[in-house]
Amino acid sequence: MKAAVRSKYGLPGDLRIKELEIPTPKDNEVLIKVHATTANRTDCHVLLGKPFIMRFFTGLFRPRLSIIGSDFTGQVESVGSMVQSFNAGDKIMGFGGVFGCGSHAQYFTLPETTATNAMIIMPGNLTYDQSAACLEGAFYAGSGIIQLAPKAGQKALVYGATGAIGSSYVQFLKYYNVYVTAVCDGEHSELIKSLGADKVIDYKREDFTKDTEKYDYVFDSVNKTGFFKCKPLLKKKGIYASSGGFEYLFLAFFTSIFGGKKVIFHVPKDVTGTLGFIKDLIEKGSFKPVIDRMYPIDKIAEAFTYVATGQKIGTVIITMNA
Ligand SMILES: NC(=O)c1ccc[n+]([C@@H]2O[C@H](COP(=O)([O-])OP(=O)(O)OC[C@H]3O[C@@H](n4cnc5c(N)ncnc54)[C@H](OP(=O)(O)O)[C@@H]3O)[C@@H](O)[C@H]2O)c1
Repeated sequence: MKAAVRSKYGLPGDLRIKELEIPTPKDNEVLIKVHATTANRTDCHVLLGKPFIMRFFTGLFRPRLSIIGSDFTGQVESVGSMVQSFNAGDKIMGFGGVFGCGSHAQYFTLPETTATNAMIIMPGNLTYDQSAACLEGAFYAGSGIIQLAPKAGQKALVYGATGAIGSSYVQFLKYYNVYVTAVCDGEHSELIKSLGADKVIDYKREDFTKDTEKYDYVFDSVNKTGFFKCKPLLKKKGIYASSGGFEYLFLAFFTSIFGGKKVIFHVPKDVTGTLGFIKDLIEKGSFKPVIDRMYPIDKIAEAFTYVATGQKIGTVIITMNA
């Protein structure tokens, strides 16, 4: 089988496509044949070993995992003798978490306990490639939205609305009948309106902080603005959430003490519950995959170079040609 293999941290020149043996599942494992995966921003962090704090989990000086990859769609190829939750032939989609699960290979194994917390049966109305565009970014946005449970008629502003997380926020908020203002490059305004945005602000031409509407929520899905900059946009008890790092943990703590406008820090959780929510919306026609580019596994380094520019629209798919 083909796999994208690395030996050190760095982006992405060290990735080599190698021919490896297809792994044999142990008694408690499932063997997954990957049809599509993605090159996403989570994988970029794992590839780079940045922020540094993640190396305490991924290997301090050298990465523990030589094959990375977090998203996957495909088929259960075979199962070990003790596995009860999955059967050979199941069509599945999954997200293997912030440190990855090795899905940048044509085949990989997962222990049953890990698999039951990472993957579900795919929706019937999408292809493998389309389903792969409904995982990592949609999971982060979906996990946050489920925890917030917004109410119909509320107003939200989504900054960076065309990214994987942003385009998912827009669609989930519309599902809850929230009024959505999307901030993105005006070039993509038709796309974002087609996902349901009620109003679009082109951040390249207008200062979005001068918007006269007041919002219940501001989501910075690309970590490029900030709470203090967006504070005037929020209603009295408005909530600000960012896809940024631990600094928001402190802001969440301090703003919760003073009351009024506050920052919340979501710890993404319940992968299969969130994927189930996304699948339900896909089957209802309320969530559409946004695919930017598709690369074959042999060109995965090129795909990462593009994703690392921070300019992808939705998701970049890697096809496995298994
Ligand atoms: N800590 C973690 O584990 C983790 C995991 C996943 C993601 N993240 C973070 O979450 C963020 C978003 O991830 P993502 O996958 O959704 O990103 P993405 O898909 O790479 O986002 C790219 C989008 O951002 C927009 N954009 C770029 N610069 C912008 C700016 N200055 N203002 C407004 N929009 C801008 C671009 O659209 P336009 O062409 O319209 O500008 C593009 O559509 C990243 O910062 C990533 O590091 C963190």
